[in-house]
Amino acid sequence: MKAAEEGRMTTHVRKSQSVSYTGKKNIKQKNEKRFYNATPMHNQSDQTYIDQTAGFVKNQLANAEAGHDWWHILRVWNNAKLLLTKEPADRLICELAALLHDIADSKFHDGDETIAPRITGEFLSGIGVDSNRVRHVQDIVQHMSYKSSLDGATFHSPELAIVQDADRLDAIGAIGIARAFHYGGFKNRELYNPTIAPVVHRDKASYKNSTAPTLNHFYEKLLLLKDQMNTETARTLAASRHAFMEQYLEQFYHEWGSVGQTD
Ligand code: ADP
Ligand code: NI
Repeated sequence: MKAAEEGRMTTHVRKSQSVSYTGKKNIKQKNEKRFYNATPMHNQSDQTYIDQTAGFVKNQLANAEAGHDWWHILRVWNNAKLLLTKEPADRLICELAALLHDIADSKFHDGDETIAPRITGEFLSGIGVDSNRVRHVQDIVQHMSYKSSLDGATFHSPELAIVQDADRLDAIGAIGIARAFHYGGFKNRELYNPTIAPVVHRDKASYKNSTAPTLNHFYEKLLLLKDQMNTETARTLAASRHAFMEQYLEQFYHEWGSVGQTD
């Protein structure tokens, strides 16, 4: 049943992506609208907050790098909605945090980790979200990154658990592989170098400063994520994505063959 749910989710995304390739803007917008309304569980004012936030984030991320762009946000938002069908939490907080979680990723802002919570607070207060929820969404945005978890998390909530899992699901599997190589290209990293072994990053600084080939990132983060999911539902969803990455790596080494062994 979970596989079916996942299939349904991706169909929504695929539809709007495929029509965008044809350039038929009106169809794309219609499909996106259907996507927004996938789970009509909110009262009217909550739905207004969500719609306003989605519009704001989409606009802010118009030129974002493809691994952290509006499509990533849509996928994470959708993952969060799926987790919310099984995991109890405040829907509005989860959806707002999923939408805002990459609004100003520190790795694209000279390491400044204060920008995202600040923009989040200003935006949500500005549209009238209650102050407790604003604070909670800011806490999630500040603490959900993989880097933060390496430094020992200081904030926990069921809502953080869900949004973090939703983001981590998008870091693994076929999409995770695409995002990793895209990021590696963006940073001009080697695909693979058999002479550079992966390392276990024990703290945030070591993880952030790594310039290793992209394949190392699988061992340094991506293959570790399935055991770091907070919720049972995400753990189940992670299993097939993880298996796909393992299969991918096997094929990668097979094709690489003996290249590098002569160096
Ligand atoms: P977070 O934003 O949760 O702290 P990261 O900064 O580790 O997480 O990265 C988010 C995504 O960016 C990763 O899942 C991956 O797709 C990509 N990424 C980050 N660092 C690397 C890297 N060294 N090599 C390849 N991809 C990376
Ligand atoms: Ni993200």
